[in-house]
Amino acid sequence: MNGFFLSFEGTEGSGKSTQAALLARRLRNLGHHVRELREPGGTPIGEEIRHTLKHSAANHAMTPEAELLLMNASRAQLVREVIRPALAAGEIVICDRFYDSTTAYQGCGRQIDLNVVWRVIDLAVGDTRPDLTLLFLVPQAVSEERRLKRQSTMAFVRDRFEEADRSFFERVEQGYRALAAAEPERVRPLDATGSIDDLKRDVWSLVEPRLANLRSAPAALS
Ligand code: TMP
Repeated sequence: MNGFFLSFEGTEGSGKSTQAALLARRLRNLGHHVRELREPGGTPIGEEIRHTLKHSAANHAMTPEAELLLMNASRAQLVREVIRPALAAGEIVICDRFYDSTTAYQGCGRQIDLNVVWRVIDLAVGDTRPDLTLLFLVPQAVSEERRLKRQSTMAFVRDRFEEADRSFFERVEQGYRALAAAEPERVRPLDATGSIDDLKRDVWSLVEPRLANLRSAPAALS
């Protein structure tokens, strides 16, 4: 078996990035080769695109279509430059967001025709698809509260996505729930309202059984 491809999904403030980092550390401690990535970003080109999408002072007028294409330009680069070689080398790839974010945010949130969205995704990823996707779900009110709290800290840098209104984030969440219903084998929802430790345990219970046959597993575990 080649490597294992895991994506983490969820709305703002769902705790997925913290959990992705915790899982990566745990897997490394067990001797696995782990590649931690984020989208948009993860390559020098992708990080420049990320800045344009999120933080650039000149991005206020970005159209949904430009947003869709930039997300997938970053993704096309990441897939070919990093993800495919890492999987071919037997590594575990943990990606903080992948194409389900595009379905949820550009498709459901920005309301671009889903068939168009999926054609663009297909071009970007080809047959490079996550083996498992963990979907971190928190109620809208919790997500909004965490978002506003983060925005009020000194360290917060303006983020174009966080300027969207409540109905946008509601559509994103509905989109995610629809994805979990449509692909229950791959997309596994998690109740992310509990403590970090509770969530860490839930993540491990979904990931551990999937790693048994992994080529990158250390000798003691394989
Ligand atoms: P984050 O790295 O802090 O989660 O920020 C990424 C933002 O980009 C987040 O608001 C979700 C958004 N996004 C999309 O709209 N579509 C995508 O395909 C991806 C990967 C992210």
